Amino acid sequence: MLWRVAHSRSSFKLYQSRWANRLAIVRAMSTAAGHSNAEAGPSTLPSRFSLPAHISISNLEGRKELDKSLFDVRVKILTVRLEGPNVNRMISNRLFRQHTLDIGRAKAIIPDPSDRNCKLVRMKVSSEDELPEDVRELIKSEANGTSTEELVLGFDDWSTSEILNSILPKDSNDEFAPSSFTLTGHIGHVNLKEEWLPYKYLIAQVMLHKNAALRTVVNKLDQINAAYRFFDMEVLAGEPDMLTTVSESGCSFTFDFSKVYWNSRLQHEHERMIQSIQRGETVADVMAGVGPFAVPLAKKGCYVLGNDLNPESVKWMRKNQENNKVQATLRVTESDGREFIKQSVMTFWNHPFEPYNPAPKNKDKSKRNRSAPGQPPGATHPPSPTPPPVLKTLATPQVPQHFIMNLPDSALTFLDAFWGLYAPLALEPGFEELVKSVGLPLVHVYCFTRELDPAPAERDICERASAVLAYTVEPSMADFKLHPVRRVAPKKDMYCLTFRLPAEVAFATGPYPGEASQQDAH
Ligand SMILES: C[S@@+](CC[C@H](N)C(=O)[O-])C[C@H]1O[C@@H](n2cnc3c(N)ncnc32)[C@H](O)[C@@H]1O
Repeated sequence: MLWRVAHSRSSFKLYQSRWANRLAIVRAMSTAAGHSNAEAGPSTLPSRFSLPAHISISNLEGRKELDKSLFDVRVKILTVRLEGPNVNRMISNRLFRQHTLDIGRAKAIIPDPSDRNCKLVRMKVSSEDELPEDVRELIKSEANGTSTEELVLGFDDWSTSEILNSILPKDSNDEFAPSSFTLTGHIGHVNLKEEWLPYKYLIAQVMLHKNAALRTVVNKLDQINAAYRFFDMEVLAGEPDMLTTVSESGCSFTFDFSKVYWNSRLQHEHERMIQSIQRGETVADVMAGVGPFAVPLAKKGCYVLGNDLNPESVKWMRKNQENNKVQATLRVTESDGREFIKQSVMTFWNHPFEPYNPAPKNKDKSKRNRSAPGQPPGATHPPSPTPPPVLKTLATPQVPQHFIMNLPDSALTFLDAFWGLYAPLALEPGFEELVKSVGLPLVHVYCFTRELDPAPAERDICERASAVLAYTVEPSMADFKLHPVRRVAPKKDMYCLTFRLPAEVAFATGPYPGEASQQDAH
């Protein structure tokens, strides 16, 4: 069975050849030249497979186990016998070729078991009568006859869509059955419409059987954990194992999918942010989850404080810190984001990271060893006229340079935490000079908006940000950027707003004049 898994926004759609290499030749028929072998028997072949007639919805509704034998079907196809030299000529004839079997891995041309000088070309029809006149004429003049083949197709030969279309009720608005799911490690999660729910176990069984990468299929239930943003899930098929490992941004992440937030669809956004931050910079990841920003940034050589309120996220972020060997450049905490923002300034100032010299990669070492001239084989300390390259020591800025806030439902409402952020340290010797040289931090705050056009979306987001920051957030601000992340629902977009924290806010000493209690749109 040939599978292609097309990756689109981390959502996987299954495609399958309609024909597989396990097509079985059951019966070979007569081979008289120019003779049509149409006969009573199995169904004719449509251009796209129709469903096995005996599969009935009422039989399958509510079933939890998949009976693969229900999908067995026999189809008859016409084969055209051609002598060696004629094969290429006929196949390159457009008229003939468009009627040959050309789908998936099923070979259109097979050896003729009865004559080694000939080949059999499989056609899309079951008899010559179904071919246009000009094709029949062509066959008559070029071929050494025709025959029919009866193919036995089983569960493995049908695509996921074909199988699901046969077991799900037809919805006039929906041409296709749900054959897509989001893959997180070995877990596939499906988003099922209400009308598919009576068939959820069967749908999950089909997906499980059709995709080798899957060990577990889950359905997200409606309730989202409001605080920690993960969904309740029910296991529909496979092992009830929610502990999974995924790779992203060159790091591995292990977590319990049922207890923390993870969204594979954010992979590109994670990578965009990671690339925008330079090695050696300091980062405070306020709502870090299990670390999809924090861990790769730490691996890149940034100095990162990773924080989350969910103890489970923190537990797995620590595990991922260890697994990815980033203990020197990532510190993990479990606090409320607002508290963490204020605390992070003190942490960078009072407990700066040790400058981190990443060990040279093995291949660099071996390159250096290879290039050392005059080294006898096996010598451990070769005399080297070229000194080893000096490893650059990265300075550790004692102030945060980036705040990442990915809690789009409410992150804008945390902006009040920046009011007077630097005020407690303003009189510390060297602090103001350091801020002048390093710069004020960039704030990257994620949010949702129901405004779907860019201009109203920008207005909406800036207004809400301004109200809580107590400062006018607008495109003319330093380093302002409003990056569209993705459409999360038909009428809801996710954005990342970036701006440089204004000195008026960072060093503010007066009482906070903003609207801290404002709720974000969701
Ligand atoms: C949408 S997830 C983002 C996780 C991760 N940064 C990512 O990009 O996948 C939001 C995270 O915020 C955490 N969270 C929720 N409320 C919080 C709060 N008040 N303070 C800190 N973290 C919070 C949740 O536990 C969750 O891990």
